[in-house]
Amino acid sequence: MSELNYLLTEQGENGVLTITINQPEKLNALSKPLMAELDQVFSEAIANDTVKGIILTGAGEKAFVAGADISEFQSLDSGERAAGMARAGQDLFRKIEMCPKAVIAAVNGFALGGGCELAMACHMRVASENAKFGQPEVNLGLIPGYGGTQRLTQLVGRGKANELLMTADMVSATEAAQIGLVNYVVPQEELLEKCQNILKKISRKSSLTIDKIVKCVDAVYDSEKDGYEVEAQEFGNCFGTEDFKEGVSAFLEKRKANFIGK
Ligand code: COA
Repeated sequence: MSELNYLLTEQGENGVLTITINQPEKLNALSKPLMAELDQVFSEAIANDTVKGIILTGAGEKAFVAGADISEFQSLDSGERAAGMARAGQDLFRKIEMCPKAVIAAVNGFALGGGCELAMACHMRVASENAKFGQPEVNLGLIPGYGGTQRLTQLVGRGKANELLMTADMVSATEAAQIGLVNYVVPQEELLEKCQNILKKISRKSSLTIDKIVKCVDAVYDSEKDGYEVEAQEFGNCFGTEDFKEGVSAFLEKRKANFIGK
């Protein structure tokens, strides 16, 4: 990986890549160069067969990501440019959402605006007890631009999404779990361990099946796709793989399957 200024990356022996957004003095706000590094790191992780799963977190104990970098907004001198910025952010978050390896957001503090949107683009969210979620853009005379109106509605339903988007109210980690925004809430010191444990289970499965699950679950939200048909196709694609043969043989032989991703 080439040199990074805004992110830290660490890959464990188990193949889990931890990406830490490392601008704690700015509460890990998403600046343009930081977003470019995230894009680069995700592209490399997707292409790297040794990466089996990804944890995305923020440096420090205060914030996951406190939003887009508001100091960059004043230089956006036209609506067209602002829309372009939103589209670029949406493309990056879409890359994360469609990553063929499991991606967990380890939300270690504030996840506001673009930070909440980034967490929602991950496949799962685990929050520390001090985490807070919100879409405060209306306080700036704005609305979310990195997919927040869409993914928040998908995760928590229309009524709660409207409330959070219109009021800019923050929700605690506990409430976020109650409304389906996060999978688990744990003490901060256990946050990364919890994510590692989830990824450990996933890494024992065939990587081919994980990619297929990402595609099928995504098809639920793609109006141009028939999700049941995508599922039938991908189910069919499992047959004939070495991992399918291994999985069935292992079951019949009463042993653990040893999947190889082929
Ligand atoms: N963009 C740029 N800088 C940000 C930022 C953002 N989204 N969020 C926080 N920062 C900076 C602050 O300007 C401050 O910098 P400074 O020390 O140079 O003044 C530093 O991070 C610490 O933040 P601060 O506001 O002092 O911390 P706090 O504990 O008082 O408040 C928040 C924490 C998260 C409530 C507050 O920072 C906040 O409201 N941030 C903006 C959230 C937002 O609207 N996000 C959506 C953007 S579209």
